[in-house]
Amino acid sequence: METVRFGIIGIGMMGREFASAAARWCHLPDMNIRPEIVAICSRTPDPKKTGWYTDNIPSIRQVTQNYRELIENPDVDVVYIAVPHNLHQEMYCAAIEAGKHLVGEKPFGINIDANKNILSAIRSHPEAFVRCTSHFIFYPAVQQICNMIESDVFGKIIEVEAGFFHASDLDPAKPINWKRILDINGEYGSMGDLGMHICHVPFRAGWRPLNVRAILSNIVTERPDGKGNIVPCETWDNATLFCETKNADGDNIFPMTLKTHRIAPGETNSWNLSILGTKASARFSTKNPKLLQKLEYTGGTQTWQHIDTGQETAFKTISGGIFTLSFSDALLQMWAAFLYEFKHGKPLKRFAGCVTPEETELSHRLFTAALESQNKQIVVKV
Ligand SMILES: NC(=O)c1ccc[n+]([C@@H]2O[C@H](COP(=O)([O-])OP(=O)(O)OC[C@H]3O[C@@H](n4cnc5c(N)ncnc54)[C@H](O)[C@@H]3O)[C@@H](O)[C@H]2O)c1
Repeated sequence: METVRFGIIGIGMMGREFASAAARWCHLPDMNIRPEIVAICSRTPDPKKTGWYTDNIPSIRQVTQNYRELIENPDVDVVYIAVPHNLHQEMYCAAIEAGKHLVGEKPFGINIDANKNILSAIRSHPEAFVRCTSHFIFYPAVQQICNMIESDVFGKIIEVEAGFFHASDLDPAKPINWKRILDINGEYGSMGDLGMHICHVPFRAGWRPLNVRAILSNIVTERPDGKGNIVPCETWDNATLFCETKNADGDNIFPMTLKTHRIAPGETNSWNLSILGTKASARFSTKNPKLLQKLEYTGGTQTWQHIDTGQETAFKTISGGIFTLSFSDALLQMWAAFLYEFKHGKPLKRFAGCVTPEETELSHRLFTAALESQNKQIVVKV
């Protein structure tokens, strides 16, 4: 078994999710490459936070508060950086320039200029293997939809809708955190936080937004700061993007609607995808993680089939095929995809790969055009 040594910068929620995925690598019986976490970097020397890692992961040999010490550690091969968006450019570029491979979090730069600088560092270091996270593509029903895209069964695409919905911000008493602060989260608001997740499948399919008319809303404009004050909450809560979109062959233009809504009553991290075509259609939502809705049209009655998918994952697991995939299982698949592509130089399948830097670049062009569209109330070319 080949071992790849990882350092984690930013030991918050996503850092812990990766550590947990790495700890149960034996769940993936066919993988012959595995991650080993050897270093962590935390901004504060909080023993409660670092202790969770060092208590659970005996392979950690470096705990530092200075991310530069971690990227200079010769025992680290790959750095996973899961920090607030305002730090992406500085840390991603530094890691690449220090000769490390990189897994970065979305949005891969707080804005388009930061993203351009990260892409430029990657182009100057072609030896670095760099990917961005996104795991919803690994739900078995989504993998089946992706197989349908690859087999070109949809016919002429009529319409695509993708969305990501959260509800907790409906509560105006919810204290503000960094994702609601312009300087840290960035101007994209919910698009920066949630947008890459819903662009992954359409972009990998080769569907390119040509232009966008965006309607963005800031619904809750102030929030408690958790210290007894009310402070401005200036980020866009909800974004709806109407895009004229071209297929990969360039012979069909169709509407694609992308929604990233932080204030979606009743929704708890619901990721949705709907593709309607003249010969076949398909829908999925993480609300019902087993359910694939599919309609195949060959004339005659138009019937939506409701199919229970099991744990038929891209990367084989020890779980039986009838069980149900969870958020953590999808993340485990994503980490398997990163390491598989790292070792083999190409993904296991076209739709079983992490987001590429070029896909993040397209997302930045789209979100930047969306900001201009909202600002000027016009359709903007992407
Ligand atoms: N892929 C996903 O599903 C998903 C989900 C949530 C968040 N994210 C992304 O992950 C990233 C982190 O988000 P999170 O929810 O884990 O945030 P978080 O607030 O839980 O964690 C961020 C961590 O970064 C640390 N940090 C800040 N400045 C630092 C510095 N100078 N040096 C070292 N550490 C520093 C903080 O102390 C904190 O522990 C963001 O880019 C976010 O968009 C991805």
